[in-house]
Amino acid sequence: MIKAVIFDLDGVIVSTDQLHYEAWKHVADQEDIYFDEKINHRLRGVSRMDSLNIMLEKADKTYSESEKEKLAKTKNDYYVDLLKQLSPNDMLPHVYDVLLNLKEQGIKIAIGSSSRNAKTILKYLGISCLFDAIADGTDIENSKPAPDVFLRAAEKLGVSYSSCAVIEDATVGIEAAKKAGMLAIAVFDAKKSEQADHKLDDIRDLLSIV
Ligand code: BG6
Ligand code: MG
Repeated sequence: MIKAVIFDLDGVIVSTDQLHYEAWKHVADQEDIYFDEKINHRLRGVSRMDSLNIMLEKADKTYSESEKEKLAKTKNDYYVDLLKQLSPNDMLPHVYDVLLNLKEQGIKIAIGSSSRNAKTILKYLGISCLFDAIADGTDIENSKPAPDVFLRAAEKLGVSYSSCAVIEDATVGIEAAKKAGMLAIAVFDAKKSEQADHKLDDIRDLLSIV
């Protein structure tokens, strides 16, 4: 029986893809590195430093660790500035109703996000107080496809791993959920994952699964 649903944040609750793209493009242009939407697509669910390493695959030179730290900071400063434009209107369709419905049924809800900006994003969306637990990039060493962030979310909730469902838009997130021994529910791009237990065209269909 499912006692908790762990939501990925970026791409499930809010679409930040374009903002990540603009911020990485800013850094790539500054360094004269080719970067496009297709490369940005590969950064979904992946941690900031892992994303940077993917972005640097097209670079002509090798970057030292301290140079990489600087680039990651430049990207994040730019991104955090862009996040200021987010408001409750940016929540993806029906997400808010689904969250409320789960709570009414007594099902716990949590965030399991690779982002170190998750709490800031939730604040701009005005939904921080809805969640029973938040596990994010600040809680973990290994980002998705490692299961760490979902295991951490379940521990914070006090719910066994096998009683949790995860909802994800990234294939690496589905892989992470299965490694965590959880029910893996895919939306958007994650529907191409062969490991997904359920594939939803509409997030409201989650309510008939849990
Ligand atoms: C994930 C996003 O949620 O967070 C990735 O899908 C992003 O695209 C990752 O790279 C890390 O985000 P942040 O906010 O810590 O730089
Ligand atoms: Mg995502």
